[in-house]
Amino acid sequence: MLFERVSSTVCSCHEYRMRASQIIYLSLLCYMPLLRVKGDASADLASAEQAFFTWHEQQAPEYSTDAGSKAFNDRLADLSMGAFDADYFAVEGFINRTQAIDRSQLSRQQGYSYDIFLDTLTTFASNYQWRQFGALNPVNFMESFYLDLDYIIDIAPFDTKGDYENYIARLEARPKQINQIMDRMHEAIRLGTTYNLVSVLKVPGQIAEVINTPPVQSTLFKPFNETLDKLTLGQTDKDDMRARGLQGLRGVWTALNRLKTFISDDYSYHTRGTYGVGGLPSGGSFYRACLKWHLSLDTSPPQVHQLGMREVDRITHNMQKVMSRQAFQGTVAEYYTKLKADPQFHRSSADEILKDFRNLIFNRIYPKLPQLFKDIPDNKVVVKPLPYDGPYGMYSSGSDDGSRPGTFYVNLRRPNETSTFTMVSLTLHETVPGHHLQYVYQAAAKLPSFQRHIDYNKYYAVPYHFPFYTAYTEGWALYSEFLGEELGVYQDDYELMGRYGDEIFRACRLVVDTGMHYLGWTRQKAIEYISARTPMPQAEVEIEVDRYLTWPGQACAYKIGELKIKELRQRASSALGDKFDIRDFHSLLLNNGPVPLKVMETIVDDFISDQGGNAHSGGPIVG
Ligand SMILES: *[C@@H]1O[C@H](CO)[C@@H](O)[C@H](O)[C@H]1NC(C)=O
Ligand SMILES: *[C@@H]1O[C@H](CO)[C@@H](O)[C@H](O)[C@H]1NC(C)=O
Ligand SMILES: *[C@@H]1O[C@H](CO)[C@@H](O)[C@H](O)[C@H]1NC(C)=O
Repeated sequence: MLFERVSSTVCSCHEYRMRASQIIYLSLLCYMPLLRVKGDASADLASAEQAFFTWHEQQAPEYSTDAGSKAFNDRLADLSMGAFDADYFAVEGFINRTQAIDRSQLSRQQGYSYDIFLDTLTTFASNYQWRQFGALNPVNFMESFYLDLDYIIDIAPFDTKGDYENYIARLEARPKQINQIMDRMHEAIRLGTTYNLVSVLKVPGQIAEVINTPPVQSTLFKPFNETLDKLTLGQTDKDDMRARGLQGLRGVWTALNRLKTFISDDYSYHTRGTYGVGGLPSGGSFYRACLKWHLSLDTSPPQVHQLGMREVDRITHNMQKVMSRQAFQGTVAEYYTKLKADPQFHRSSADEILKDFRNLIFNRIYPKLPQLFKDIPDNKVVVKPLPYDGPYGMYSSGSDDGSRPGTFYVNLRRPNETSTFTMVSLTLHETVPGHHLQYVYQAAAKLPSFQRHIDYNKYYAVPYHFPFYTAYTEGWALYSEFLGEELGVYQDDYELMGRYGDEIFRACRLVVDTGMHYLGWTRQKAIEYISARTPMPQAEVEIEVDRYLTWPGQACAYKIGELKIKELRQRASSALGDKFDIRDFHSLLLNNGPVPLKVMETIVDDFISDQGGNAHSGGPIVG
């Protein structure tokens, strides 16, 4: 959780299986314009949203594969320079089409969908001016296809000859895409809009690790071994496909080698001289645009910085209360060092840890949820060991029809280094009432495809990109760590300190992200700031800080989202007094799926007015 795997697996595994009834519904919609009558705004919106979703699938073919479609499985995203303008014009067309719809004719729920849709489109289009910044730098130490080869073969189907032909076509398309990536990065060098060196320092080594494995032994070749053997197909066909697959992979290896040389011998020497993006031409405005993109709220960098410091003080104060209750004399860092070394928080085996997590989820948390939630969908989360050595814990949502359950993966590689006092907040965040509960409400709400499937890729391209609404999803998960207190899930001061340790780290992000990108902080200053205030080991802090330098504004979304939810809850409860029901409020937030924080505000204000309250009471915590 501390270092979330942000690309594919965390949230984007909502598999898309179109049912027969939906196909009929959609094909009817296609004929709607012929029968246009007054009051068909609703059908116009549905068809515009569906057309956008299909266009987006074509524009991001791997996202389409991930969403369960086979339509574009033979393609890769076009990363040519020409794509910038082509995408812009397409999106402008969708904006025009959407603005022609009369929002006042829509139901309330559709009105929100309209707002989200328009926000998705205009966020993209309004940031066209920044296409020559992040978007010109598609490779960094956290992002590129070669960092997660398993993902590529996991999402693609290998059930038919056609599936293999698609896969081979994709392999053959890769060298061209790698050339496009290098063209973009050359352009970034020319314009002076490159990363700091920390963002690409590990890249040559990461590529070497991939291409030092012979293609035939690579994960990418796996589908050509046993999986292909099992396919009902003539031996000649199989041999032919194997040969072409191998040939394709050799081409990828050659292209990757060129990319590696380019990064180490050329790009690295032209990386920006400042740590933050503030040092780039128009860097301050660029950072504001990134921040706004991630927060889905127009909060200024200095405001975010101040909020962060206020939160850090508040949480530190909470920590000190506990520490003095326990008569501990040292610093926060010393406290956590002592706690981590304490044998009472250690388990001897992976099995015990797994058992602890399951016990926590099913015996401690689930039974308490009805205090704060109603109409809870049935689908329970499952807990499994993480199949590789990644983050401590992460959540992968299931399929909308429930056939593949939402899964909480726990890293059990080093059970002796796991401390039980950190389990509770992690569990609340990743499972219930965090990511899993959010997901099951969202799935039950039957939202339009573009709302259900978010393309969590290309963080580098922000802000010239379609929004993820991370402030909603991660804000909700962080808010869930707080709900653990209201639910009485934290059983002692140690578990509470585990929670504070996680929380203060998210607050520190507001301070250092704005510090480095907007206020001229050095990397070292950021590392020291976090190390002095959180339980995190130095090596992890460094990776974190390099992440912030690579994705300006991204890490601020968590705390800002949580503060916004708390602010709106406060607004609703003071406006409604006795009529305020926390369970209705939570349903309201969860039933609309991921939304921009601005739209969340509208939703809550409507809720307040509906119940006879006076919206807009109380000043904002996050403006
Ligand atoms: C969208 O509308 C604007 C303003 O009417 C117009 O200038 C533009 O050409 C339209 N774009 C597309 C792609 O239809
Ligand atoms: C595929 O099979 C070949 C031949 O048996 C073997 O050398 C290679 O290691 C296998 N590759 C993978 C990724 O399993
Ligand atoms: C945990 O166990 C692993 C493997 O047995 C060992 O390498 C590591 O040093 C141990 N860590 C601690 C903190 O004891």
